[in-house]
Amino acid sequence: MFSKNHFFGKDIVSIRDFSRNDLEFIFDSTDKIQQLTPEEKSELGKGRTLGYIFYEPSTRTRMSFEAAMAALGGSSIGIFDSKFSAIEKGESLADTIRIIDLYSDVIVLRHARDGSSRYAAELSSNPIINAGSGSEEHPTQAMLDLYTIFKEKGRIDNLTIGIVGDLKYGRTVYSLLYGLKNYHVNVHLISPPSLAIRKESIFEFERIMNINHYDYLDDIIPQLDVLYVTRIQKERFPDTQEYEKVKGTYRIDEKILDDAKIDLSIMHPLPRLDEISHTIDNTKNAIYFKQAAYGKELRSALLALILNEDPF
Ligand code: CP
Repeated sequence: MFSKNHFFGKDIVSIRDFSRNDLEFIFDSTDKIQQLTPEEKSELGKGRTLGYIFYEPSTRTRMSFEAAMAALGGSSIGIFDSKFSAIEKGESLADTIRIIDLYSDVIVLRHARDGSSRYAAELSSNPIINAGSGSEEHPTQAMLDLYTIFKEKGRIDNLTIGIVGDLKYGRTVYSLLYGLKNYHVNVHLISPPSLAIRKESIFEFERIMNINHYDYLDDIIPQLDVLYVTRIQKERFPDTQEYEKVKGTYRIDEKILDDAKIDLSIMHPLPRLDEISHTIDNTKNAIYFKQAAYGKELRSALLALILNEDPF
């Protein structure tokens, strides 16, 4: 593993830009930042400003970045409801990025369009962090997902990982799979045929990873070490009738645990609707709230690496 921070001043647009060494450097930095005192941490972003623009709703991503920046001693400014910004008057993404670039040191962007963060990175002089671009990617979510697996299981290699739900529109699924390409894992994809992984991506994944496809979770649950559950992305369906046909297709409840490994880890990027029963929340298998907590730590480390040449 390299020891030099080469994330200083860099954009985080796609998880595909990160090698296994890169990811492990970020995980190691996430471990290190949790060992700092609050005073030490608050030096890493002192006097710096995070600017954010969320064209789509967010709870975890926006708030964890804000909380991370506050812990680093910096501040955050931004737009999370475009109705109360000049976007409502018709200001373009390009001009919005150019303006927030003037007022901040690092920019976090969520946008409904694939390619939006790559485009913003070309315009901005300060680093852009992709906080979700259409149904394409959510790279920092994948980093925290991989970190969660690593912390909970002690490794990522040689695990059997099931990903269930909306594999067509779920951007966290694509970023996670691109991240998992760096590891030796068995991946089982479980979805109704109409929500299967997009054809243009499956070829790339299958070339590198051992991937199997299933319609039903029951067929595969006993083999899994990790079950990554996703919400059906109602907002991305071109036709709401198509959403009505598949909503509620999967529901993870205690019955499923009867056939699962005793230490199965159940993850979810959240928000969940009804795909995981609340009766699962207090089982030791449920790690989705811990996963959200790791999000703040990992994003703190990432910001520290982007804002400082030698933070740790
Ligand atoms: N996981 C995730 O991106 O959650 P938010 O939409 O709340 O940011």
